[in-house]
Amino acid sequence: MEKLRFMLIGCGRISKNHITATAENKDTCVLAAVCDPVRERAEQKAADYEALTGSRPAVYEDYRKALEELEIDCCTVATESGYHAAIALDCIAHGKNVLIEKPIALSTADAEEILAKAKEKGVTVGVCHQNRFNPPVRQMRRALESGRFGKLINGTARILWNRTMPYYQQAPWRGTWELDGGTLMNQCIHGIDLLQWTMGGEPDTVMAMTGNFIRDIEAEDFGAILIRFKNGTIGIVEGTACVYPKNLEETLSVFGETGTVVIGGVAVNRMQTWQFADEAPQDAEVAQLVGADPKDVYGSGHTPLYADYIDAVRTGRAPLVSGEEGIKGMKLVLAAYKSQKTGLPVKYDDLSFSTLDMCSDDVKVR
Ligand SMILES: NC(=O)c1ccc[n+]([C@@H]2O[C@H](COP(=O)([O-])OP(=O)(O)OC[C@H]3O[C@@H](n4cnc5c(N)ncnc54)[C@H](O)[C@@H]3O)[C@@H](O)[C@H]2O)c1
Repeated sequence: MEKLRFMLIGCGRISKNHITATAENKDTCVLAAVCDPVRERAEQKAADYEALTGSRPAVYEDYRKALEELEIDCCTVATESGYHAAIALDCIAHGKNVLIEKPIALSTADAEEILAKAKEKGVTVGVCHQNRFNPPVRQMRRALESGRFGKLINGTARILWNRTMPYYQQAPWRGTWELDGGTLMNQCIHGIDLLQWTMGGEPDTVMAMTGNFIRDIEAEDFGAILIRFKNGTIGIVEGTACVYPKNLEETLSVFGETGTVVIGGVAVNRMQTWQFADEAPQDAEVAQLVGADPKDVYGSGHTPLYADYIDAVRTGRAPLVSGEEGIKGMKLVLAAYKSQKTGLPVKYDDLSFSTLDMCSDDVKVR
């Protein structure tokens, strides 16, 4: 079978994970082009991919030129979050499949347009919520799907991290309403995605309080969210970029009538509690899981995420983190923002909101 030809759009901090992931899937895909208006960044990524695979991607400053000149099957969008929608829509208009870094977009309208246009064109959308592929998360998911938790009650996502001012000062888009959002939209969205996926994926009502305590950015550096899901379960999110002096933990806790699972470590990669009323063969596999934290908080989930996405494009099935799945974490964060802005609970289904709607809002609590 022909290898899928990928183009990477955006060669910043996260691009190394895309270089590694495409290289580690080199039997089924090839990175044909890398694009960044900062040419040296793209040149560096081309060299990195060549060092891993022996094949050198073409380098472009303008992805639109590459779309015209090259045969590409899939475009990975890894630019500043606020540019995801426009670039993804451009690629979709050219009939390309798109794999979009999180968050899929920064407004419900943009995200819905991506899904609608992709459907029209018959292309596949995937979103990079790679933590769904962490081994302890996969085991929890298996237990959930086989009913081992019994009646689900509640779940908690705690993202207790530290992002210092030098982090925010690395690039002018960070922490802005126009191109990023705050810690809920940037750092915590993975944990929020895992929570909604675990609790049933159909939120009903969202209440939140957010604030900007110590970081000199437009958006929030702390947020607390309460979610009532349509199946009655309750989700709690505690997300912060302010933990002194460094990242403390990202933890997902799941509580059912006959099961408790807590996955922690610094990036939801370490099984801490695995308790079920019944016994199952998977318990032995869980006992074998090595509880090491990943090298960085991005983890190593991009490689299996690409493998799943490539298989989905080839076979026509939906990827595990499809566009429809990827929209949910973003929408939960936007619902939290709206709740903070209005002081009221927000109905998830009726939500029409954007990070830009927060521009006039002063979330500073200093
Ligand atoms: N999945 C994860 O765990 C994870 C981790 C970090 C970042 N991200 C996401 O990845 C995205 C990028 O984050 P980052 O930290 O790499 O940012 P960054 O600022 O380091 O890199 C963004 C890059 O995109 C380039 N760019 C801008 N416009 C472009 C265009 N039109 N065409 C091509 N390139 C363009 C910029 O020049 C820059 O090099 C964000 O949306 C972020 O939320 C995801």
